[in-house]
Amino acid sequence: MSLANKIAVITGGMGQLGQHFATALLAKGASVVVLDLNVEKSRWKGSMPASEKLHFYQADISNKQEVEKVAARIVSSVGIPNVLINNAAIDAPPSAPASENGPFEDYPLESIQKAFDVNVLGTVICCQVFGKQMISGKVAGSIINISSIYGMVSPVQDIYAYKSKGGSPWFKPVAYSITKSAILNLTRYLATYWGKNGIRVNTISPAGIFNNQDKEFLEEYHRRIPIGRMAKPEEIAEAVLFLAGDGSSYMTGSNMVVDGGWTAW
Ligand SMILES: NC(=O)c1ccc[n+]([C@@H]2O[C@H](COP(=O)([O-])OP(=O)(O)OC[C@H]3O[C@@H](n4cnc5c(N)ncnc54)[C@H](O)[C@@H]3O)[C@@H](O)[C@H]2O)c1
Repeated sequence: MSLANKIAVITGGMGQLGQHFATALLAKGASVVVLDLNVEKSRWKGSMPASEKLHFYQADISNKQEVEKVAARIVSSVGIPNVLINNAAIDAPPSAPASENGPFEDYPLESIQKAFDVNVLGTVICCQVFGKQMISGKVAGSIINISSIYGMVSPVQDIYAYKSKGGSPWFKPVAYSITKSAILNLTRYLATYWGKNGIRVNTISPAGIFNNQDKEFLEEYHRRIPIGRMAKPEEIAEAVLFLAGDGSSYMTGSNMVVDGGWTAW
């Protein structure tokens, strides 16, 4: 299916999944706006598609004024977006200080606040700003919110137990889980709120994406996941293409789970 009539904004478009979403949408003919905190081209892994339909804009999605300003620039130079992929999010990186992956009882509240500001408020802000443009331009749109299996079910802490060997206990932190859960109900809220305005809102919940993780982690993960491997970014991009396109015209408020069976048991 051609997506030549689509203008897609991808928040966090310079990240691992965002780059694949951009490439897949461009290949289907869409215009793509990569919106990210950091749009330095050197961040792009592999060869960047040479397309005049690929645009880059810098903004912090947790700052509404910044998003409003950048959205106005996008509308005047590219057009009113009819696809919004709320993909930007933060999680504790492997290099994070020990407290970021320490016990729940002492988990820093400021880390929860920070994750909330980007993962939840940032998504709300982009829905407000770009949704308003769709409404005022009478543009039918598709909003795709990227959650995670960890927004649906609790992390299996056992698969991270090897990280605690001989050191401090290591846990997948609570901030990511609770912010990713919020996305599920934001989707449902907006799907009903905008149902009659032609704006569809759906979630994609991926399982872990392969990204050269360490050997022990991969062994643990592969043992746990029914399909026996992590996802490839292209496999999540397929779900994005479907929800962006008119083939999913009767889908709104749904959660498309692309998880290799993780949540099946
Ligand atoms: N990678 C996985 O294993 C996995 C699994 C399930 C769900 N997800 C979800 O998929 C999405 C993309 O994940 P990823 O692995 O590509 O992440 P990533 O860290 O590679 O990319 C995230 C991007 O968001 C940008 N960003 C962060 N804060 C921002 C802000 N305030 N404003 C604008 N941009 C900001 C970063 O600069 C980065 O380019 C996230 O929502 C993540 O939770 C990822």
